[in-house]
Amino acid sequence: MNKIIIELSNLTKSFNTKKNIKVLKKINYKFKAGKIYSLMGPSGSGKSTLLNLMSLIDRPSNGSIKFESKQIDFNKKKNNDMFRANNIGIIYQQDNLLSDFTALENVYLSSLASGNKIEEAKSKSKKILKNVGLSNRMEHYPTELSGGEKQRVAIARALINEPKIILADEPTGSLDKNTSQEIFYLLKKQINSQRLIIFATHNRFFANKSDCLLEMIDGNIKTINGRV
Ligand SMILES: Nc1ncnc2c1ncn2[C@@H]1O[C@H](COP(=O)(O)OP(=O)(O)O)[C@@H](O)[C@H]1O
Ligand SMILES: [Mg+2]
Repeated sequence: MNKIIIELSNLTKSFNTKKNIKVLKKINYKFKAGKIYSLMGPSGSGKSTLLNLMSLIDRPSNGSIKFESKQIDFNKKKNNDMFRANNIGIIYQQDNLLSDFTALENVYLSSLASGNKIEEAKSKSKKILKNVGLSNRMEHYPTELSGGEKQRVAIARALINEPKIILADEPTGSLDKNTSQEIFYLLKKQINSQRLIIFATHNRFFANKSDCLLEMIDGNIKTINGRV
């Protein structure tokens, strides 16, 4: 039996703009370690909203999130920021790299943020950048990197603190077909028995290569194809 890493209970999110929009409606779901889940659904269906809640970037309107049976208190922002830094690697569609910093700095700064020493952080970052195929790009700035290379840096950055959870929001959404494949397989390779990966995508081919394909339908999650 794989351990449950994230448990969503009646997770609800509404946005109170001009019109109250109910985006997520009482979602109940258990995500297991050692598995990679894909999240599909049309634009506006709530994929990013759900990932932002699980990243503890945004807070639910109702319901709860448990990480390894421990319920998150959304009032404890500092704790949650620390929890995120140590346990969650996040990858976006656009790489979100700091433009004034090199590839290496972008990766090791994330490690410093969670309290590691600079020399250790640097050598670990170099190792990870090498593993994602960027040995020759460490001193490059984001503007000097291709889209695929930037996403490799983003993956390295997400991996630096050896997170139990990786959340990726359309990680290949702005890449060409071949680069998308490379990045997808690189992401998929990061799964291990202790780790959970969830990625939102519009690409059904990649979605089908996950352990479990989920679809956002009418504010809820439906399992389309599960091997978990
Ligand atoms: N901060 C926000 N304020 C108001 N509405 C929002 C906000 N974020 C998302 N939404 C709305 O929530 C819905 C779901 O958006 P999103 O989660 O980004 O969908 P997806 O990632 O599936 O394309 C959309 O209707 C969007 O307009
Ligand atoms: Mg989105």
